[in-house]
Amino acid sequence: MITGASTGIGKVTAVALAERGFELTLVCRDPQKAEAAVAEILAKTPGAKVEVMLADLSSQESIRKLAADFKARHARLDVLVNNAGAILMERRTTVDGIEATFATNHLGYFLLTNLLLELLQASAPARIVNVSSAGHKGGKLDFDDLNHDKGYAGIRVYCDSKLANLYFTYELARRLEGTGVTVNSLHPGVVASNFGQGDGSRWFRVLMKLGKPFLRSVDKGARTSIYLASSPEVEGVSGKYFIDCKPRQSSRRSQDPEIARQLWQVSEKLTGLPASP
Ligand SMILES: NC(=O)c1ccc[n+]([C@@H]2O[C@H](COP(=O)([O-])OP(=O)(O)OC[C@H]3O[C@@H](n4cnc5c(N)ncnc54)[C@H](OP(=O)(O)O)[C@@H]3O)[C@@H](O)[C@H]2O)c1
Repeated sequence: MITGASTGIGKVTAVALAERGFELTLVCRDPQKAEAAVAEILAKTPGAKVEVMLADLSSQESIRKLAADFKARHARLDVLVNNAGAILMERRTTVDGIEATFATNHLGYFLLTNLLLELLQASAPARIVNVSSAGHKGGKLDFDDLNHDKGYAGIRVYCDSKLANLYFTYELARRLEGTGVTVNSLHPGVVASNFGQGDGSRWFRVLMKLGKPFLRSVDKGARTSIYLASSPEVEGVSGKYFIDCKPRQSSRRSQDPEIARQLWQVSEKLTGLPASP
């Protein structure tokens, strides 16, 4: 399963995994873009097994329905790539009343993964891949204002959400020790995708457009996701942060296990999952 597979890094990841013989579920919110992605996959890999499941990953009800429908249709899940993400220059709240960047980029990964965790464990060896960003270095979680009610700066809030991806990865890796399910995170590079084009501010869109010739291609940007999802080299490797298919140190702040545990507990409350030890 690949989230945010309609475009960008997620779509290239899907194309590559189809070429490697994976049976794919593309999670997309826009049916037309999803169909175009499927057509592209089938053009490159005729006969590829690929389905679309529509979901808005900023909505917890939509995520619950996605997980339930997936479990009703499939007896196993070998790889989950949490890739869907957004940067929002203006503060928005979701149908659940949660700030939308945090809801999509962090709680979306957290809730979907937890709802599919039993299935992943039953399918072990299995893998979870969380697309984060080097932008996590600019993040710092304020547990008194995770909803960013007090003040909002789109880039900072995005960086916080990508830092949350790392806390989530490291805490989940600790919880999954010995289960045969691995979880790793990555920075794809600064990639010439559609990132920020729909929801970024005008200046951010212009910046990304001007910068496009100097940015990494989407094909290159997807390499580490593809590697973590499929390479035998990372079998059994868990709880790491990768750049260019190599394990790297994430920021010191991101490695604080107390904050990771605290974020896990808060995320359980915010998503209505039962409290775990
Ligand atoms: N591009 C970069 O330089 C860069 C750098 C570091 C990290 N990243 C990370 O890489 C990941 C992929 O980004 P990208 O560069 O490929 O950007 P992209 O081209 O904008 O793709 C983002 C994907 O996420 C989907 N998405 C966003 N919000 C969603 C929601 N609420 N529900 C369902 N799907 C949603 C988008 O769907 P639609 O097509 O419907 O919009 C799209 O498929 C993100 O997690 C991002 O944070 C990117």
